[in-house]
This record gives sequence, structure tokens and C-alpha cells, in this order.
Amino acid sequence: MGFQIQSYQQYLDDYKKSVTNPAEFWDEIAVHFKWRKHWDKTFEYDWSKPETKWFIGGQLNITENCLDRHLASKADQTAIIWEPNNPNEKSVRVTYKELHSKVCAFANVLKKNGIQKGDKVCIYMPMIVELAVAVLACARIGAVHSVVFAGFSSKALAARINDAGCKIVLTADGGYRGEKTTPLKNIVDEALKNCSTVNNVLVFKRTDQPINWNDNIDKWWHEEIAQIEDICEPVVLDSEDELFILYTSGSTGKPKGMVHTCGGYMVYTTYSFQNVFQYKEGDVYWCTADIGWITGHSYIIYGPLCLGATTVMFEGVPSYPDYGRFWEVCEKHKVNQFYTAPTAIRTLAKHPKDLVDKYDLSNLKVLGTVGEPINEEAWHWYDDNVGKNKCPIVDTWWQTETGGILISSLAGVTEGKPTFATLPMPGIQPALFDSEGRKIENQEAEGILAIQHPWPSIARTIYGDHERYKNVYFSAYPNHYFPGDGALRDAKGNYRITGRVDDVVIVSGHNLGTAPVENAIDEHKDVVECAVVGFPHDVKGNALYAFVITYDKVSKPEQLKNEILELVSKTVGPIAKPDKIQFVSGLPKTRSGKIMRRILRKIASKDTENLGDISTLLNPDVVTEIIDNSL
Ligand code: WT7
Repeated sequence: MGFQIQSYQQYLDDYKKSVTNPAEFWDEIAVHFKWRKHWDKTFEYDWSKPETKWFIGGQLNITENCLDRHLASKADQTAIIWEPNNPNEKSVRVTYKELHSKVCAFANVLKKNGIQKGDKVCIYMPMIVELAVAVLACARIGAVHSVVFAGFSSKALAARINDAGCKIVLTADGGYRGEKTTPLKNIVDEALKNCSTVNNVLVFKRTDQPINWNDNIDKWWHEEIAQIEDICEPVVLDSEDELFILYTSGSTGKPKGMVHTCGGYMVYTTYSFQNVFQYKEGDVYWCTADIGWITGHSYIIYGPLCLGATTVMFEGVPSYPDYGRFWEVCEKHKVNQFYTAPTAIRTLAKHPKDLVDKYDLSNLKVLGTVGEPINEEAWHWYDDNVGKNKCPIVDTWWQTETGGILISSLAGVTEGKPTFATLPMPGIQPALFDSEGRKIENQEAEGILAIQHPWPSIARTIYGDHERYKNVYFSAYPNHYFPGDGALRDAKGNYRITGRVDDVVIVSGHNLGTAPVENAIDEHKDVVECAVVGFPHDVKGNALYAFVITYDKVSKPEQLKNEILELVSKTVGPIAKPDKIQFVSGLPKTRSGKIMRRILRKIASKDTENLGDISTLLNPDVVTEIIDNSL
């Protein structure tokens, strides 16, 4: 669309304008979309309440922008390339015309089942085309989707259904992920024993496995969709009407239902998608995230489709049938932009290089990363082996709460820097604060990150708990949004995200981020991955505890420990040497691949009575092993 940033100078000019005249800046971007009614005012905010509104009085439907608007010029262009879990099954290409028809038909199914504007719809589905169709069909009729990652347990699912008060659940009989088949419908059945708001469950047949059936509420997707009309006028919504709820974990047990609204979210995701990835007409873009996460919402579905891009949806996992699968898919679909997470990169880097080398990756132009700070080693592996040192890497920093990417380089337009997210997007005004809550004015500094002006896609509230929203995000620093991350700023204004603020440990009065210590340990040739946390220490106040995964069984633990200490000492400094090093077979991780340091901190502090809910972990078993062998 007409807002692609083409040069570094243009970035500088646009950035400046976005700060000095944000209303005009965003007006000029928003006019490129299809609105049913132009907005009256660009934005309004009061973060003492806190309240943020964008494109006030504007009316639109995001699916009209994702679908209808493209029909005149690209009806037959591929919107979604779907790649199945099993490489022997055929991949599917869905054109914009076909996607439009599927979405309209399914929107009519939802209506037939009594779903209306404002109703909450829970989507618990595998990564199949119907998941994207379901999301868009909700948006078509103004129903509010709440996608729950299809790896979550029945307990986690029930909590999310109840919190949002969902009227209907969309699911499948089962889902394929690598060697595993997940019994999705049976998990839904289990969850519904504790939910009272759900009237119906629509079931897509994917695996054809045996399932329980309750005639009163269960309906087959294929029966519902048969003979239904594929014409459905979009419901015209207000800019500030709810588009979706998406849950993210908080520091306390209860997940936070972040609420995103229509107008600002549409404008910002599309704008950031085009500029960060520098997507050009005809490119094939692949984001490997699951649609159950914000990355999938913003950068598989809404951003790319609003721009009229071709977006890949992958049902499987990077390890199946072997660790070359990502690269096989890149070759097969001639992927131009590839976007994944550091945890995937680190895992793939453990495996033989020829699993990458044997595929033709010459179509790749841009690589992206998201989800956590990327360590030096992983960054260089990605750059050398996947990008062949010719693809810019965009390290995109953002959150479920921010809706879109806030800090990132723009591929090939602004300069990248290993392990740095680099510069703020136009419209984003980051600031650093010191531990006493004072804003740091020096350019070169390290501190706690905050954002000082609203951008269009900021989450408007936590569903049902505005007070918590205020406390978590707007009470740390007056008139600033507090994301909970630390950051370092270099002389050129580049930001490096150093990790969650709670990952900072004060050892003998020294403020130590655990990430650099982890980086140092990761450098050891025998180490696969590690996590470092603090624990209370009589003398030092706090000391460091390292949990380390090695490639092979450790034959000489004392020697390896000494080598690790030496490395940390050399790289970070003697003060950062962990007091304890425990070799483990795995680390507790969330389904999105984040190490659950909260659990490790408890283990390190010998406070294992109350670990909180660990049922949503990828690998709950590893927790017992770590506790049993803890030092
Ligand atoms: C947290 C948000 C945004 C989509 C995926 C995660 C960390 C995210 C980066 C990055 C360093 C990053 C932050 C942030 N994070 N991207 N490029 N560099 N850290 O969404 O689950 O809401 O998590 O992920 O700590 O606060 P999320």
C-alpha cells in the first residue's frame, strides 16, 4: 500500500513527523484503507484512566479490507498457502476469491447458530485453513474471537472460555503436530464440564479419530456448511468495537484477556507488516507461529491479508519428519520472508548443518525473529546458514498487548545490528527509566523500557478487569506504558531488549541481567541451552543458579562446570559466575517456547511447595526431574 518506507532518510523523516504531528501522520496512513465512514478524530488518550481511542467515529469491517477490497485486482492470487503436518499430504493454495467465499459461508453458519455482533467465540483449532476462516468469519459479523492455542489443557481452555463468557466453541476432532495427534474435541468435552455459557460446539473433521458426541450441542462443520450461501455482507463496526480477546500469561496465575479493537489494530498491523518485512507484490511470506498467539493473529492473518499478501500457514512442527522441515517448506513454496522464534533457531542450530544446506533457500530475502532476546550464537547461525549472510534479519520486539511490532529494523532500509531490535517504528516513542523511576536522558544507557505515546494497536483493556490493566501497565511511570522489559540503548539510538525486568538479579549490589550470563554459557561447545536465575544468598543478597542442557551426557561434571565458570568470568565478569550449576535434560517451557523462569526461580530458592499451575507447560515432567536433582 502507499505507505512503504523506501529509504533510511524517509524513515527518519516519517519518524520525526510521527512524533511532531502524530494525527496527520496516522491520517495519511489510514486513508489507504476502506472505511465505511471516515473518522472524526485521529486519537484521544488519557493514561491516568487509562483510556486510548483511535480513528474515533470511524466505521469499517476489517474483513472487507482483508478480502473484498482485493477482489477487483487479485481475486485469483493466492491468499493462503497451507502446508500440512505430513509432507506426503498435498499442500493447498486458497485464492482471495475462495477465501472470501469460505469466510462468508462460515459467517452465515455462525449467524445460523445464533451468533451476533459482540458475542464471544472460542476457537480451539489446529493450524488448518478453517482456523483462519473461523477467525475472519467472526470479524465479518462483529463477533469477538478468542483463539486458544490448541496445545492448551482442558483446564486452561475452560478458564479462558469462562473468563470471556464464550457462547460457542469452534474445534476439530483432532489435530496433527509432528508424530502426535491431539484429541481436541475430547479436550473441549472435558473443559465444558466446567463451563456454563457455551450453547454449541462446531467440529471440523480433520483426523477422523473416534470422539464423543452430544447431540444437544455438537454439530459437524461439514454438515453446517453444506448448502449455505456464500454471500454475507460485512457488519459495519465502529473503530473502537472489540475485534478479539487473546490471553497472555501474567506474573500471577490468572491469564490476562487482552482486548484489541478494530480500526487501530487494522491500520497498525498492516503498516508494520509492510514496512518491517518490506513485503513486495508477489512475494511469499511465512511466519511459523501458531495462530493461537498474537504473532499469528497480526502477522499470519490480519496484517498480510489486509496488504493482499500471500501468507503461508504451517500445520506441523520444525522437527517432523526431521529437523530440515522448515527449509524444505521454504524451498517448496519459494518463501521470500521467513519469520520465526529464537527457541526454534537454537533447536535447529543443534542439528547437522546439511539439514539446511541441502535445500535451495535462494528465494529468501528477509529473516525475522520474535519472542525473546536472540543470543549472539543463534543470531549468527541464522545469518550464516539460513540467510547466507545476504538477508537482513529483523529482530522484532513487541507483545500480545502491543498488537504489532514496536521496535525493529526495516529490512534492508534501516540497519540491523546483531541481538539488537534496533530502532522504534514510526509512531513509537520509547524511553528508559532507572531503578529509582527517573527517566534516563543520556543516549547511551541501560534501564527499564517504557513507551510514552499511544500507537493505534495498543490493547485497550484486560477483559473484565480494567483495574488490573491499569496496575500492570500504567502505574509504574506516569503517562507511560510499561511493557515489563529491560533494554539497552546505544549511541545511535538502537535498542537491545535485555529480557523481562524480573530477570534482573542484584548480586552483591551489582545489577546483573541473566541474559548475558546465559549467552556466555551458551557459547560453550557442549551446551545446548541454559537458563540462569537468582536465588537468595546470605552474603551476596542474591546469587546465580544456572540450569544447563548439554548435548551428551556429562562425563566429567566438575571439569565442565569449571569451563563454564571460566567462560562467564571472561565474558561477563567474575561477579557473574553462578554459585550453582545443575545439568538438566530439559527446561520448563511455555507452549510458545518461553523458558518459565518463574518456576526455576522457585526451585533455586527451594520453594517448591507452591509452583502454581504447571499444566500448561510444554514439558511438565521435566520439573520433577529438576527438583529431584536440585542443588
Ligand atoms: C514478551 C512478549 C510478540 C509476539 C511474541 C511474544 C519478549 C518479544 C522480543 C524480541 C526480545 C522479545 C519480551 C516481551 N519479546 N519479542 N524481539 N526481543 N524480547 O508475545 O507472549 O506477549 O511476549 O516477549 O519479553 O515483553 P508475548
